[in-house]
Amino acid sequence: MSKDSSLKKLSQLLADSYVLMLKTQNVHWNVVGMPFFTIHTMTEQQYTELFTAVDVIAERMRALGGKSPGTMKDFLAQTKLKEGAGGGDFASMVKELTDANNAISTELKKMVDGTDDPATEDLFVQRMHVHDKAAWMWNSLMADPMVAQAAKSVAAPAAKAAPAPKVAAPKPAATKPASAKPESKSAKAKKKKAKKPVAKASPAPAPKVEAPKPVAKPAAKPASTSKRSGRLVRDIKNVG
Ligand SMILES: [Fe+2]
Repeated sequence: MSKDSSLKKLSQLLADSYVLMLKTQNVHWNVVGMPFFTIHTMTEQQYTELFTAVDVIAERMRALGGKSPGTMKDFLAQTKLKEGAGGGDFASMVKELTDANNAISTELKKMVDGTDDPATEDLFVQRMHVHDKAAWMWNSLMADPMVAQAAKSVAAPAAKAAPAPKVAAPKPAATKPASAKPESKSAKAKKKKAKKPVAKASPAPAPKVEAPKPVAKPAAKPASTSKRSGRLVRDIKNVG
């Protein structure tokens, strides 16, 4: 009868310890905030210790001739703890771990009462020491003024952000200010000149090919000598 009672208590302690180990790892993995390194280190120490503890508890059950539960379904069915919310700020995470350690310690005090198995009772007392110490350490961390202040600021609802002042969109600059003087002729000419596209460099002129010179016709033959002599005779006659 006492053996069955011990096995039942050990089974619940195993389930509680396993769920607490996962809760502690959850905080180890997901904690953010100012005391990150402290919490990250403390959780690692605690889940490592719990990993050894669940083995000792399960093997005590086997030593008593019982069978140890070994599935999450079994653990969730027997644990007195609630599963972690899986998020939140560091203060709520630490509170969850503090409460879980206190809850296991309270259960262990009940387990010690009425146990007539000294070895199992001794195990319960040892585990009580561990969980009381863990709860004290978490409470001490939260008592640190800087951590407490950080926890307060995290817990405080975010102040409503003041609406951003309306900033008038800049008006597009007028293309022609009303007060602008009419452009002078010289200014217009300058603008026109500036707008005038730069003349493209004209391609080099093709080399001139000289047309072949027409072959010169032979000069006309001078009047024949006979014609000239006839004219001379006539001229002499006219003179005589
Ligand atoms: Fe780690």
